[in-house]
Amino acid sequence: MIKKTVICTLLIGIAFIGCTSTKSLTKPLVKQHSKYRLVWTDDPTTTVTVAWDQGQVENPVVYYGKEDFGQDWEEYPHSQNPTRIVAEYRGMNNHFATLRDLQPDQTYYFVIRDSEYTSDRFWFKTAPDQPKPFTFISGGDTKSSDPPLTAGRLSHRMVAKLRPLFVVFNGDFCSGDGTNDNDWQQWLNDWTFLTTTEDGRMIPIIPVHGNHEDGDYTVLNKLFNAPYQYDDEENVYYSLSFGNNLFHIIALNSQTGGFEDQTKWLEEDLKKHQDFTFKIAGYHKPIRPHTAKKSENDHLLSAWAPLFYQYKLDISLDGDSHMSKITYPIRPSKEPGSHEGFIRDDENGTMYIGEGSWGATPRQNNDDKPWTLRSGSFNQIKWIQVFPQEGEEPAYLEIRTVITSERNPYNEDEVISHVDNVSSLSESDVFAIPDNIKLFSPEPYGPVITYPFQEPREEN
Ligand SMILES: [Fe+2]
Repeated sequence: MIKKTVICTLLIGIAFIGCTSTKSLTKPLVKQHSKYRLVWTDDPTTTVTVAWDQGQVENPVVYYGKEDFGQDWEEYPHSQNPTRIVAEYRGMNNHFATLRDLQPDQTYYFVIRDSEYTSDRFWFKTAPDQPKPFTFISGGDTKSSDPPLTAGRLSHRMVAKLRPLFVVFNGDFCSGDGTNDNDWQQWLNDWTFLTTTEDGRMIPIIPVHGNHEDGDYTVLNKLFNAPYQYDDEENVYYSLSFGNNLFHIIALNSQTGGFEDQTKWLEEDLKKHQDFTFKIAGYHKPIRPHTAKKSENDHLLSAWAPLFYQYKLDISLDGDSHMSKITYPIRPSKEPGSHEGFIRDDENGTMYIGEGSWGATPRQNNDDKPWTLRSGSFNQIKWIQVFPQEGEEPAYLEIRTVITSERNPYNEDEVISHVDNVSSLSESDVFAIPDNIKLFSPEPYGPVITYPFQEPREEN
């Protein structure tokens, strides 16, 4: 077999290695490990999964510890062999090393070392086990080529600038049905290089299954180690918690065939975590899309919305429609004054936030409801700051819609960046508002929507 590697892509000065040019090879030849990502699917106060494509060099080990030894892998006090290998899947040798027994609210440094190479030194933070302010990012819907790829890369870069504790990505990673090897390799390379901060901090992802993953229901399990429920490949959904009853997040699957099983699982999960201050669910298909082209999802309305209300889910996150929406807190209702099965309820309702335009071409926001707070059409991610109760002040969320790019109205192929000139936050203040950030700022609410929801005070 002739082995010949070529450097295919140069991005922000870092070489992506892959893609052979010889027909005799059936899969890409990757020189060394790459496509690093961190995944949260379990208790993030003590656990993180390091995932990567091992290429063809053997005996990789993750070396890690609380002190930074750079690439001196022998100095790190802890090591972990791969805990799972999914070989030759999507053209990659997917390796997973789940690090356990970590300390909460800690910084850890790590490298991956195999028999020939040492990776760059990366670092990450574990989640706190006590109530403590933090930020996270929610969004979804990236594409694999053309202007949507460019736009998605801008949103990736905003992640690195904002340094959230984690990202919940609400489905639709690649164009097509999620079975194209090159598209996935490109996505994972982009994720590694663009969402990692300049000083090497990797941001964990909580992956959610979207309809563009429907070509292979196992994909999130095999690329991110997302767990199956009921030992069933179609039941990829899970939840995790941290902050000592502060925060519970559920990664649902609006695409699964095992829908009744999932609804049963959801009710049990919500019941078990009902005492948490903030309960949040992420899934792909909005129950009531805010663009007219998309069909209504009545099955989600009848199966999930009553459970969200019964167990006081605070925030629902979705994607799919390729535009932005935030609703007032709403609950399912058929009473007079309700619309499409929901009615506003500031006291006890769930705020529905979406709808996925991380990179995909923005659709028109032409299907608002009486209970829609605001919608918009642009590429965006949601940046959410979480504040626990402090003294007499109750816990609250600050929700911002970060516009990462727009299209030139005279030339749809031109992506206008709102990321290039944004300053990067420093690790010592991830709650600051970066210079030049473009926030959606609808009147009369301005750039920040708070939850519990309050109408802005009228000025005298
Ligand atoms: Fe979708």
